[in-house]
Amino acid sequence: MTRTNVAVFASGSGSNFEAIAQAAHDGELAIDIQLLIVDKEDAYAIERAKKWGIPTKVYVPKMYESKEAYERDVLQQLNAHHVELVILAGYMRLVGKTLLDAYEGRMINIHPSLLPSFPGKDAIGQAVRHGVKVTGVTVHYVDSGMDTGPIIAQRATDVVPNDIEATTKNVQAVEHELYKEAIQQILMNK
Ligand code: GRF
Repeated sequence: MTRTNVAVFASGSGSNFEAIAQAAHDGELAIDIQLLIVDKEDAYAIERAKKWGIPTKVYVPKMYESKEAYERDVLQQLNAHHVELVILAGYMRLVGKTLLDAYEGRMINIHPSLLPSFPGKDAIGQAVRHGVKVTGVTVHYVDSGMDTGPIIAQRATDVVPNDIEATTKNVQAVEHELYKEAIQQILMNK
């Protein structure tokens, strides 16, 4: 089976990136992670990429005159690596037209709630504070909205009442499995 070239975008810890890198390494996913793209110099995901020998590119948007200029540089890098699928994994930024036009239907995101409930930042905190009993994880295609694109996969998990930390553990465990499954589903339908 030919392997698919992917890029992962992250802004923070990178635990989803790590789960995907592990699955690629174990032969569970037929992907080559060509590069990690981060928009923050101190993102811990960079350390994880070093461990896996995955090249990292840091693009800090505020160094650019516009979002378009920033995304043009990112796109050039994706093209140079023949990236076929872009995997957003904790990339805390709305994707603009330049990248959307180039990767429509080929860019996915993971969000820690059962969308359309609790989009945006602090989705787990939102769910716990709201007092819902069940939350979950959504993998979806990216469009110009905030966590609004067509849904690929969802899975529920329990909310631990008044406990964001414990609920986060539940959600993360689901995330690390569901993202792999959704990527596998996309590869099979390619
Ligand atoms: C995850 O909860 C993901 O769903 C959200 O951002 C978080 C990133 O976590 N989009 P990590 O950096 O992968 O650990």
